[in-house]
Amino acid sequence: MSPRILLVAVLSIALLPGLPRGASRQPVRAQHGMVASTCEIASRVGVEIMQRGGNAVDAAVAVGLALAVVWPFAGNLGGGGFMMIRRADGTTEIVDYREKAPAAASRDMYLDKNGKVIGGESTIGYKAVGVPGSVAGLALAEQRHGRLKWADVLEPAIRLAADGFTLNNITAGGIKNTAKLLSRFPDSNRIFLRSGNYYKEGETLVQPELAATLKRLKEQGPREFYEGETARLVVEDMKANGGMISAADLKEYQPSIRKPITGSYRGYEIVTMPPPSSGGAVLIEMLNMLEHYNLAEMGQNSSDELHVLTEVMRRAFADRAEFMGDADFVKVPIAGITSKKYAQELLKTIDASKATPSSAIKAGAPTGYESTETTHYTVIDAEGNVVSNTYTLNNGFGSGVTARGTGVLLNDEMDDFTSKPGVPNGFGLLQSEANAIAPGKRPLSAMTPTIVLKDGKVFFAIGSPGGPTIINTVLQVILNVIDFKMNLQQAIDAPRFHHQWMPDEIRWEPYGLNRDTRALLEQRGYVFATRPSGMGDAEGIMIEPETGMRLGASDPRSGGASVGY
Ligand code: DON
Repeated sequence: MSPRILLVAVLSIALLPGLPRGASRQPVRAQHGMVASTCEIASRVGVEIMQRGGNAVDAAVAVGLALAVVWPFAGNLGGGGFMMIRRADGTTEIVDYREKAPAAASRDMYLDKNGKVIGGESTIGYKAVGVPGSVAGLALAEQRHGRLKWADVLEPAIRLAADGFTLNNITAGGIKNTAKLLSRFPDSNRIFLRSGNYYKEGETLVQPELAATLKRLKEQGPREFYEGETARLVVEDMKANGGMISAADLKEYQPSIRKPITGSYRGYEIVTMPPPSSGGAVLIEMLNMLEHYNLAEMGQNSSDELHVLTEVMRRAFADRAEFMGDADFVKVPIAGITSKKYAQELLKTIDASKATPSSAIKAGAPTGYESTETTHYTVIDAEGNVVSNTYTLNNGFGSGVTARGTGVLLNDEMDDFTSKPGVPNGFGLLQSEANAIAPGKRPLSAMTPTIVLKDGKVFFAIGSPGGPTIINTVLQVILNVIDFKMNLQQAIDAPRFHHQWMPDEIRWEPYGLNRDTRALLEQRGYVFATRPSGMGDAEGIMIEPETGMRLGASDPRSGGASVGY
């Protein structure tokens, strides 16, 4: 570039509107509605539904059904999740469609006769499957808040399953990478692996059985999944392969309506997920502690900031391990954990200069027991209704089982229970009796669909997959926006890290933490995971306060795409 051209380029950039610059693309902007999801095909489905007169809930339900076709790692009919709905009138409601343990499940079902956990039983195959909630949950959201008909929101998913969709490098590669699991189950092997003739990028995946299942749901309604031909096929396959789910388990499954838990952080209101997720309580507990530090002055991802964040994460995750489970079954001290006073008590135990080993941290003593591969997408419509939805099969492709004849992949959510208190689960999480298995109980989740308000109005909505890292991903996006003044795209793109009390190590991302910072933290007593690994797939929308424009921001880590209109 000649010096003259360079000068013109610099000057013209300086003339652009005052957008905050950084090493990220700008968020996607639109006037009316926006969908941020991990898959562009699904985001387009949501926009199409809104352009046909649907609201954010219609769009969110259609996106959830479409992802079950085009994002088989985590999009699902055979799993469960949480949909947070913030209506334009300012009311918030959550549809909890988390899976439940079948009636035949029991506390020690994954232990051998010597009391040892049997490896793989809670993660692979028929015994790992919890009673799916997705179809009932999406249908309930549609019934309570949608404007279109159930049949309308199923249309795009049916079309994508019947006509097929083009696999990209992420979907084709991801399927191939899971070949070891999927090849163990005949329908998974045939449908996703083409019996060994693996799909390549650019090829079309058609799923006729799934299309037929979706058509039955369209014609007979959502209970078909629980009481009709689909239920019959699932139960038959369960019986033939040592699974636990019975016709009665399916028939009895009902989602729940819940109120969010709320907290505040530097003048913003945090509206987030109650039990059976641990996410909201842990998030608020961490924010309450962090409010006492000047993170902006420390600098984003500086050793000082990482020291404080790690100590805060360590303490909140210790509480998660000790206290949390399905609040319909056990008492969870939510009020205590999320109180500002409790945060102040915990702060006294943080050493300003060095790491506290996790072995020295026990859960705190919050007061006031009250009685009482995942994907996230976020939608906003022209009226200002917002949906923040996280749902999952647990691990990528769940249990690996596609229920015979249905095209429906089944979850391995039973691993989110503790198979044995004190023994880590698939995510290395230690948990207590509060999260022991019991019939009809929901396994503890970390999914954290969250909405942040400013002056009572939606500012942004966010969530992510990633097991326990979900909570810390949501935390860091919030800090990046509020403390470090990033736009939502920068906040999502920025490198993340994770600590969950046990194991006592900091997880970090490739290119995410330079050697100098790591060395400074090692001097303070921190241990880092041997190798870095990517974390989360955050998908968010923001309402630009000055203009009301809808801004969409999708995580580059899994190729997400925001689409607006
Ligand atoms: O509910 C939970 O916390 C887990 N089943 C989520 C699993 C997950 O995010 C896996 N994705 N990467």
